[in-house]
Amino acid sequence: MANVAHVGHAELLTPELVASQRFFVGVLGMTVVAESANAVYLRGYGQYQRTDLKLSAASVAGLGHLGLRMASGPALERTASEFEAAGRGRGWIDGDVGHGRAFRFEDPSGHVPGAPPRLHHLAFWVDTREEVLRAADVFVDHGVTIEVPPAQHGIGSSFFLYAYEPGGNRIEVTTGADFVYDPDPETRTWTAADQARGVGWGTRFPDSWRTYGTPPVESR
Ligand SMILES: [Fe+2]
Repeated sequence: MANVAHVGHAELLTPELVASQRFFVGVLGMTVVAESANAVYLRGYGQYQRTDLKLSAASVAGLGHLGLRMASGPALERTASEFEAAGRGRGWIDGDVGHGRAFRFEDPSGHVPGAPPRLHHLAFWVDTREEVLRAADVFVDHGVTIEVPPAQHGIGSSFFLYAYEPGGNRIEVTTGADFVYDPDPETRTWTAADQARGVGWGTRFPDSWRTYGTPPVESR
C-alpha cells in the first residue's frame, strides 16, 4: 500500500500577508479557519480537512512547506525512518492547525548548491471549464494579474489559467486533468515531440512562465 494518501496542505510565504489574504478569501472564496500573529489558515470550498492553505508573512514569496497526508500512522512512522536513514530528516514537530504530529524532511530534488528550490505554481481545482472562465472575469474585476489566459495544456489536457496572487506567487485555476486512480499504473513517457506540440489550441506562453518562480532570482 502506498505510504502517501494525498497532498494535505501547502504553506505559501508572502511579503503582503493582508493583500494575499484578501485575494484568497475575497477573490478565490476560501474561508479563514484560524489565525496567528504571522499566519492565517484557510480552507477551500468542499474541503473535508480543516485547512489546506497556510499563508505566512515573510520577506520574500515562496513555498514554506508542502504537507503530505500519509495513509496511516504506521505509514508515517515507516516513511520517517526511511528519510532519517537517508539523512534527509529534519525531525518531528508536534503539529499545526489541522494536523497532529508530523515529520519534516528535505525534498530530495531541491539541493543544487547556491540555487534554493523555487515555487512554480500552486494549483486550485474547480469543477468545470466555465468556472475557470469565471475566475478570469473575477480576476480582471479585482485587478489580479493574469499571466496566461484560459487555455488547454497539451500534456495532461487540463484546462487552466495562471495568475499572480498579491504576494507574487503564481497560482493556477484548473480543471479537467487526467486523474490516475490506478494504484500501479503503467508509466507514460512524454517525449520532446509531445512537448513541442505545445499547448492545446496553440496558445503562446509568455517567457515569464518559464523563468519566473518564487522566491524570484533577484531576491536570493
Ligand atoms: Fe504543516
